[in-house]
Amino acid sequence: MSADEVDLKKRRFLTAATSVVGAIGAVYAAVPFVASMNPSARAKASGAPVEADIGKLEPGQIIRIKWRGKPVWVVRRTEQNLQDMASLNDRLADPMSETQQQPDYCKNEGRSIKPEYLVAVGICTHLGCSPTFRPEVAPADLGPEWKGGFFCPCHGSFFDLAGRVYKGVPAPTNLVIPPHHYVSDTKILVGLDGGAA
Ligand code: FES
Repeated sequence: MSADEVDLKKRRFLTAATSVVGAIGAVYAAVPFVASMNPSARAKASGAPVEADIGKLEPGQIIRIKWRGKPVWVVRRTEQNLQDMASLNDRLADPMSETQQQPDYCKNEGRSIKPEYLVAVGICTHLGCSPTFRPEVAPADLGPEWKGGFFCPCHGSFFDLAGRVYKGVPAPTNLVIPPHHYVSDTKILVGLDGGAA
């Protein structure tokens, strides 16, 4: 092998080695960049509490947020909704929320801290579809007895506006109520009990 050939090989090796170091350097540079760039997204993914702003939520409306990758609904119930819910107990599987699907402070008929607001995980307790919000009273497809609630189209489960499951449907239990508390009149923190640090 001539001196020129040896030199050429050495140069190729050095070029390749420099490229590898360059690539590794780029990866190391990218990691702290991403880590510092998106702290709220990382916090949400890790299960940190999430704030819901209910300041503009009108009676009869719903807002949807995400907590731990799951849909969470906040529904502002009307006075009529609250009266209608009280008339449904005979048709519900667990109207008094005996099954532990909610924090103790939500073990009441409305399954909530304030009667007006429902906060619930929007995942059907049958096989995990997300039910549809159906606040209308007596719509043609749900029948004259329907007082508003949630309908899961996957296998036909019904829940009232407190997330209480009807009797005789595939879903075995009420919807889950996540830990939450009111930070102010217009802000709810989902994912943390009021008494928790
Ligand atoms: S997943 Fe909702 S009824 Fe089956």
